[in-house]
Amino acid sequence: MKEKKASKTITLADMQNKKASGEKITMLTAYDYSMARLLDEAGLDIVLVGDSLGMVALGYDSTVPVTMEEMIHHCSAVRRGVNRALLIGDMPYLSYQISKNEAVKNAGLFLKKAGCHGVKLEGGSDIAPTIEKMVKAGISVMGHIGLTPQTAIALGGYKVQGRDMKSAKKLIEDARAVSNAGAFSLVLECIPSIIAKTITEMVPIPTIGIGAGPHCDGQVLVINDLLGFFEKFTPSFVKRYANLNPKIREALDDFINEVKSGVFPGPEHSFRGGEELFEDLKADNK
Ligand code: KIV
Repeated sequence: MKEKKASKTITLADMQNKKASGEKITMLTAYDYSMARLLDEAGLDIVLVGDSLGMVALGYDSTVPVTMEEMIHHCSAVRRGVNRALLIGDMPYLSYQISKNEAVKNAGLFLKKAGCHGVKLEGGSDIAPTIEKMVKAGISVMGHIGLTPQTAIALGGYKVQGRDMKSAKKLIEDARAVSNAGAFSLVLECIPSIIAKTITEMVPIPTIGIGAGPHCDGQVLVINDLLGFFEKFTPSFVKRYANLNPKIREALDDFINEVKSGVFPGPEHSFRGGEELFEDLKADNK
């Protein structure tokens, strides 16, 4: 018999309880209504509208060009498909770095305009005062440290962080700062498992790993990577649970061939009725 999926609305307190009980948190990205519905119905705890949107849905080369307008547009679509999961919107580059006031205003738009439950932003101690101000304004914030794709160039490219003592210590300091600022959870991206374990045991808030090993309180992946629906590149930490692209290509070939050969649409995909009018219509048009 199929297991019945969760139907209760997820809260921030549930995330904290999961950390306490050791039950793992599940989070995936979505960028549109149809996928959001599938994730929500599957029982995911958190749906993230990541700024990975820029690369996997909008075709940019990085997440840097993504705008507030694009994020709000896609978060609103995802919102309409989510009934029970926590919905988090990712703040795009330069929407929270310029000033704390602008950051709070932009974060507020994710809640007011798109109906998100909270926002995610990248950065450690440097961004902690901004997180504090957002939290004071009543905004739930998810932090993100380690490999932070918006500033990957400054970090020396898309590479594992925290492999030497200096950068490992910096990660620990960043995790503390984000947690102390009032974030409700923390994404750890591309860091050695042992550092992720240390941080997870050290901070009171749940950690959610991507390329950060098995000891985090939860795991997140980009949905297009998980489904094999983005072929440009696949990071080594990604597990592909499906390989959709060849299946989609096969379906497209079948459609093209059937249209060309007249197999589609057949009678079952065509409407009947009005046959008795046919002769009159023909006569009228003579
Ligand atoms: O943009 C994104 O999708 C993310 C997650 C992968 C954590 O930041």
